[in-house]
Parts: sequence; structure tokens; C-alpha cells
Amino acid sequence: MEEIGKSYKRIDALEKVLGQTKFLDDLPDENFLHAAPVYSGIPFGQILSIDFSKAKSYPDFVDFISAKDISGENQVGVIIEDQPLFADKIVRFVGDVIGLIVAKSPQNARDIAKLVEIKIEELSPYFTIDESRNATEIFLHDSNLACEHQVIRGDIETGFTDADLIIEETFKTSVAEHYYLEPQGCIAFPKTDKMKLLGSLQCPFYIQKAVSRVLGIPLENVEVEQSPTGGAFGGKEDVPSELCARVAVAAQKLGKPVKMVYSRKEDVQLTSKRHPFQMRYKVGVSKSGKLLAAEILLEENAGAYATLSSVVSYRAAMQAMGPYKIPNVKVRSKSYYTNLPPNGAFRGFGSPQATFGHERIMDILAKKLGIDPVEFRMKNMLEVGDETMTGQKLTSSVGAKETLQNASERINNNIIQNNNNSHYLEGIGIASCHYGNCLGAAGWHLDGAGVNIKIRKNGKISVAFGLVEMGQGAETVVAQMTAQALGVTTEIIEILPTSTIHVPDSGPSVASRNVVMTGNAIRNAAEELLPILKKVSAEILNCDQENIEIKNCFAKNLKSERKITFSEIAGYLHLNGMKTQSNGWWHVPELDYDSETGTGDAYFTYSYATQIVKVRVDRLTGIVKVEKIWAAHDIGKAINPAGLQAQVEGGTAQGIGWALTENFKYEHGKAVTQNLSTYLIPTAQNTAKVETILVEDSEPLGPWGAKGIGEPAIIPTAAAIANAVSNATGIEFNEIPMTPENVLEKIES
Ligand code: MOS
Repeated sequence: MEEIGKSYKRIDALEKVLGQTKFLDDLPDENFLHAAPVYSGIPFGQILSIDFSKAKSYPDFVDFISAKDISGENQVGVIIEDQPLFADKIVRFVGDVIGLIVAKSPQNARDIAKLVEIKIEELSPYFTIDESRNATEIFLHDSNLACEHQVIRGDIETGFTDADLIIEETFKTSVAEHYYLEPQGCIAFPKTDKMKLLGSLQCPFYIQKAVSRVLGIPLENVEVEQSPTGGAFGGKEDVPSELCARVAVAAQKLGKPVKMVYSRKEDVQLTSKRHPFQMRYKVGVSKSGKLLAAEILLEENAGAYATLSSVVSYRAAMQAMGPYKIPNVKVRSKSYYTNLPPNGAFRGFGSPQATFGHERIMDILAKKLGIDPVEFRMKNMLEVGDETMTGQKLTSSVGAKETLQNASERINNNIIQNNNNSHYLEGIGIASCHYGNCLGAAGWHLDGAGVNIKIRKNGKISVAFGLVEMGQGAETVVAQMTAQALGVTTEIIEILPTSTIHVPDSGPSVASRNVVMTGNAIRNAAEELLPILKKVSAEILNCDQENIEIKNCFAKNLKSERKITFSEIAGYLHLNGMKTQSNGWWHVPELDYDSETGTGDAYFTYSYATQIVKVRVDRLTGIVKVEKIWAAHDIGKAINPAGLQAQVEGGTAQGIGWALTENFKYEHGKAVTQNLSTYLIPTAQNTAKVETILVEDSEPLGPWGAKGIGEPAIIPTAAAIANAVSNATGIEFNEIPMTPENVLEKIES
């Protein structure tokens, strides 16, 4: 039986639905001290004084931890060094942390934190991209430009001269909060000159680096273990580094374990969000519908610190014109600092935003040309042998057209007939995208990952991997891939918690990279173990190794049909002091990329997708209901089709929320949206019926041909919904969220 391609229930599901999984805040309190952050409360200003004398007199007060307590460097910038761990001179957003109050209970810590008096001389803040870009003095950092990327290929002037039609449009996408169900938190355990951290997190190795730097102790003296993590979606990529480092400073100073778990309100105020984008697209086409040139400006609101803006800006630039052939492009992608919480990683890293831009303009162009939107996309879509917008020659696994073909076939019997007497308008919208798997040329140096596989004496196999389970089903596919690689069944695989002591630095758990990276590392580890298993089986079965087949937990002599169990082999290995474990490693192959022009191999391979949605717009209320989504995804090979479908259902649901109802609001830099009473994430009622369509265009470098699905699942959804609402109403919707109020306003004007 093949383990790859078989639908498995998540191996961690039962424990979770029974409520037995111990998330960080479920762990018994072993006399931990508790910390609570003291925020600036002011969006921009200079710190004049910090006075905690009132806090000190509170009975439960233990300590006030601030910049002066840092033994190493007061710096936690991930890519750009612009972010102090504790603000000591300037505050740049209301959630800038000045210090921590440590007390004997979490509630007391929060109450005492309110007693710290901070005097700040306010500066005038910037909240929008326009305000930030147009500033002439007093910048957030050296300048207000956090980072920028570009793609310059061909000659847009010639392209536009040759064009029969040129369209220019602007688009806007909104901020989004991840709203993982488990808020961020960690516990720091000091041990003489070492520090151990346990936390709800996505990237243990980032935390290891941040803590080592801030505490001024060697990297090897910091151990980071992930506790079961209740959702992350990118929100636990960079933020846990600051959270853990702050708590670690307190634990180092006090010599006792310190715990901090954010309340929902703190989590919303302090943590990263999806970057809002404003985009200008100018695209030229021939009469027959061939894309000739594009000039694109993407502007992103980075918030107070750059954190992962550079990754978002890079990815958005590389993918700005989508999965299409276009010979002449000029893309500039710029990220501006503002006095809002830092925006960071959120499922897709700028791709959902860029896809909103290219898929809206594709629809507008098709309409103006009088060409069917499916046909127009098909004419320009990438296939093997073509070059991407960055000039990367694609040599394999380009299932883009097949996703479009397969999804569009499904709508044929869904003809829309809008009737003037009804207040409902129906519409269909299409969006296609490509998604560069893993970190790409800009993050290539970090793009390796490892596993450690151990054959146990009891006949089970344990796997430690360097990426993490954060709700996406990683443990299940890792177990399946290990089972397939070693000829056993998924049931006998045990997954260990991810910890920096089990595996070497495997980079971040992001960019839909788990299946590809971990899968290849597993195959690499198995290459070392398989010959040993064969040799031992041949010894026990008394035959030649060539005649041994290992499958489904049995080794069989193909000649005599005699079998032994995998447990017997495992027992034999241990009894005879043989090798029972192996480490596997995989690194993304070198990419030929020119960072000056942004051209060449931006990523080693791409996942492709087309989602088609059917919506119903109520023209009396402005309410948009997404009735159905056909989601066709080229993922090379589905390791766990059930898990893949769950990813698509989750991703499209998140896309529906971003497109229609999630309307995050700030007032003077402070989040007025604080919880689910006003932040409307979709409930079961607002999600759509989703039909997932698999396209398996095998990727030679992917394990068993597989590519990533985590992020592609959300990327085209909002664009497809906007195209559908535009189709239903005949009005162009170029901005999200399309809340009932916003939709009604456009219909009425
Ligand atoms: Mo995610 S945006 O890959 O952390």
C-alpha cells in the first residue's frame, strides 16, 4: 500500500478534539513568575522618563525589566536592524514595549503594568503610506522607506508603443489580523549559563538567534522547544522572537522561570498583521489579447519596524504579474514605515495582495478587449518552456493551464441569469496565481532543513524535524513521507516536538516549504537506513539482498515469499548494536538570480492555482454571499489529499474574511478592533462550499513530485471574489474589504 497519496486523518487530531493536548497555558503552574508588557500607549515620540515607583509598592510586584537589564544587545530586527527589544529612547507605535512587569500572578502583572508612568514627548505620527512617503523631516528611522525590490526586464517603452490597448488602474487591500485561536506566549527556564524556552511559535531557530543575541550568550546555550501551537498563519514567525527574548531577559535577571501569555487584547494590539497594499498597474496588450508590457508600483504599509517586510516586498515584486508570459516589465515594490504595529508575515507574504492586483487588471483588460476572461488568461498563461515575468525559464511542473482548464469546466452549467425583479445579483469570478515555493533567491542561504529518524527497539520509528506543526497538518504528512521512504506504515511513526536540540537550524516554518524541505530530508535520511534494513532482512531471511522487498512493515524474500516484520528487524538492529538512526538534510539548489534587476530564478519551483467563485450580491443590503468555490491547485503530488482539501477549505475561508468582512480599524494608531465582536472572521455560515480539484504535475525536485499548498490555498480567493462581485454588479471593485456598507455605497452611487 502506498502511504503517499492516501488520505489520512490528522495524527494529532484525536488528542486535540478531546481537549487533551497541553497548549502552553494548560501546563501546570510550577511557581512560575508572570510577566506583562508595559506599552508606550503613544504612536510616536521620545521617552523622557520612566517611573515605576508606584508599581514597586504593589504587594505582588517582583521586578520591572527594561532596556537596562539587557546583557547583550537591545536589538531584535529580523532582517533590518531597526527594532530595539525594549524601547528606551523613541517609541514608534502604541504597542512598543518599554519593559515588563514581573509579578506572582498574570492578572497582578497586568494590573501593576498600568501603574508604570512613562512621560513621552509626542512627535507627529504617520499612519498611511501617503503620509509616510511624503514626509520631509522627522522620519521613523533613517528614512521612512523600510525596503524596496524591483524587477526590470525587457523594455516597457517599446512594449507600450506596440500595445493596442493600455489600461491603468489602482487597487487597495486592507490590513488583516491572523486571529489564530491560541494567543502568543512562552515560558523561559533559566539554567546557570543557559536558557530554555518553550513557546507557541513557528520558527524556533529565529528565537534561538534572537535570545542568544539579547542575552549575550552563545547560540548553543539557548534551547527552544515548540509547545503544541494553536494556529499561526505567519503571525508566529517573527513576533515570538521578541516575546521570548523579553521573557528571557526577565528569567536571566531573576534566575527563575518566567511565563508570559498575551491576552487577546494584547495580542491584537501588539502583534503583526497582513500588510495593506496600494498598487498601480499599467498594462499594455495587443488587440488579440497578448500581454506586452506592465509597469507596476506596489506600496506597502510596513508599520513601525521592518520585521519581515522585505520578504513581503520581494515576493510581491517577483509575482506581481502572475503566472503569465509578459516580455516587458518594470515593477517597483516599496515598503514604508508608519506608526502602526509592524506588519509581517501572513499566509502568502504579499502574494494575495499582488494577486489582487494582477487578477483584477486581467479581468478589466479582458472586458475591454471583449475576450472571455478564461480565454484571455489561457492565451497568456505559462507552460513548460516559457519564461516567467522575471525571465526564469520553466523546465517542468507547470500545471497553470490545467488548473484554469479544470476549474473553468466546472462552471459551464452554472450560467448566471440575473433577473431585474430580484434584489439578488449573481456573478462568477476567476483568479489564477503562481506561488514560489520556499524562500527564494533572497532567502536562499536559509533554505535548508533537516530531520532525525530513529528506529526504536519496539519497532516504532520516531521523527524529529526542524519545521513545525502549527495547525496545518505537518505531522501527518511527515509521518506519511517517512513511512513511504522506509517501507513501513504511517501508524508506526511518532513525531517528536520540534526543538533546536534535535535537529540543525532548518530555517523558518514558512513559505509553504514543509512538504518539500522535510520530504526531501526524509528521503535523504532513508537512503542511509534502507541498505541497513535490507542487509539485516537478508541475513534473517537467509537470502540475497537483491531479493528483499520492504513494504507495509514487512520485509519479504521475493523468491520464497518468506516474511519478517519490521518489529523483528528493529529488534535485531538493537540487539546487535547496529545503526538505528540517521540524519537527513536538504537544501534548495542554487538559483541563478540577479538582485540588481530582480531577474532570473526567483524561486526553484512554483505551485499554481485557479479559483473560480460564484457569489450572490444583495443589492438592497450590500451583503455578498460566496456560494461556491472551485479551487484547482497544481501541487505536483498530493501527499495527503484529505489534508490538502482541509488546507484549501481553510485558506479560502480566510480569503473570504479578508475580501468581505474583516475590517480592522485603528484610531490614532490604536487598534479599536480588539476581538471577534467587531473583527468578523467567517463562521461556518459565511464559508462557501468548496470543491477542491487536484492537478498533479509532478515536480522533479519535490519529494514524490510534491510542491506546497499552505499558502496557495488563500492566494487567489479575494481576487476571485472581487472579480465575481464586479461581474455581478457591473461595477469595478478595486478595493477590499467589500463590506456591505462599501458594496452598497458603490451600488448606490
Ligand atoms: Mo508564512 S507568511 O509563510 O509565515
